[in-house]
Amino acid sequence: MKVNGIPTRTIWSIEHGQAVGIIDQTKLPFEFKKERLDDWRQVRDAIATMKVRGAPLIGIAAVWALVLAIRDNASDDFIHEVRSELIATRPTAVNLQWAVDHVVKRVISLPQKDRLPAVYKLAKEMTQADVLTNRAIGTHGARVIAEIYARKREPVNILTHCNAGWLATVDYGTALSAVYIAFEQGIPLHVWVDETRPREQGLLTAWELAGVGIPHTVIADNAGGHLMQHREVDAVIVGADRITAIGDVANKVGTYLKALAAKDMDVPFYVAAPSSTIDWSIQDGKHSIKIENRAGDELRIVRGLDKKGHACDVRIISEQTNVENPAFDVTPAKLVTGIITERGVCAPEFLTRLFPEGARAHARG
Ligand code: MRU
Repeated sequence: MKVNGIPTRTIWSIEHGQAVGIIDQTKLPFEFKKERLDDWRQVRDAIATMKVRGAPLIGIAAVWALVLAIRDNASDDFIHEVRSELIATRPTAVNLQWAVDHVVKRVISLPQKDRLPAVYKLAKEMTQADVLTNRAIGTHGARVIAEIYARKREPVNILTHCNAGWLATVDYGTALSAVYIAFEQGIPLHVWVDETRPREQGLLTAWELAGVGIPHTVIADNAGGHLMQHREVDAVIVGADRITAIGDVANKVGTYLKALAAKDMDVPFYVAAPSSTIDWSIQDGKHSIKIENRAGDELRIVRGLDKKGHACDVRIISEQTNVENPAFDVTPAKLVTGIITERGVCAPEFLTRLFPEGARAHARG
């Protein structure tokens, strides 16, 4: 996507894999700042502190961390150590583990001298594949929006939670990819953007939408149910961090409540995600998906602009107050109307039909 008219991606290779460039997303929406990372540990920390974030993007970032690590040391022991450290940074989004394991499996079978060129090639391929996958998700998702417009003949109101836009991937995004492509096709639409406390990823979504001129309105996280009761929402479209084989969906905390309200009001609830978000090894999401618990200060301290327009942190909850900060929740498949993937849209129970090889690979172990 473009930032100030310049085509921009969220991650890029510098000097043929000697370093990696990122956008420091903790500075957005107040400041657009790029950063160069020279060492795999810097990439690991950027994932943990959410300078880079979003399930697909942290997977790709971890692959570039492996490039920098293998440049320094291509031994088996070191690669396995780096693998474990990377996977531990963000436990819920399965894309991270998928991407790291995909690369480690391929590289470890090679002689040590061949590992660096192989991991660099793979990193470039996977980065580009992410873009194409998201574009395909958007094309299928845009059809869903087009169908609503064909019935309604008035701007389509979409509600989204968190940020499943280009910032959460290499480019285009997942849920927002559908919105971008529908908008490109001339379908009139408007997006209700959940603020998404505590990390305010909704503000990233608003920043993205403003960048391309898509009408949108930020709402408090608790407003969605009210809007659905008053028929102000035609569809909910969210991203995902892990989807089980039967279609249970882990996504940013608060998603489940939106799905409950959508069910009550017969509002279609879609989840847009690449197949790398599907964890074929599990069925029941509520019991099998590890939910990341993040630091309490994410809840206690908010970031904003002071009167002079300088970014600053403000404490809104005292240090002594107990807080709990689960970063994700699980929406059961029964509340999901459809899953929008790079291969098309299907009801959760038909995921295995859409990706028979995924289910088969898991059965083989
Ligand atoms: O900001 P994060 O990395 O904690 O959140 C992950 C996400 O971006 C969302 O849950 C998103 O909806 C799925 S990733 C496209």
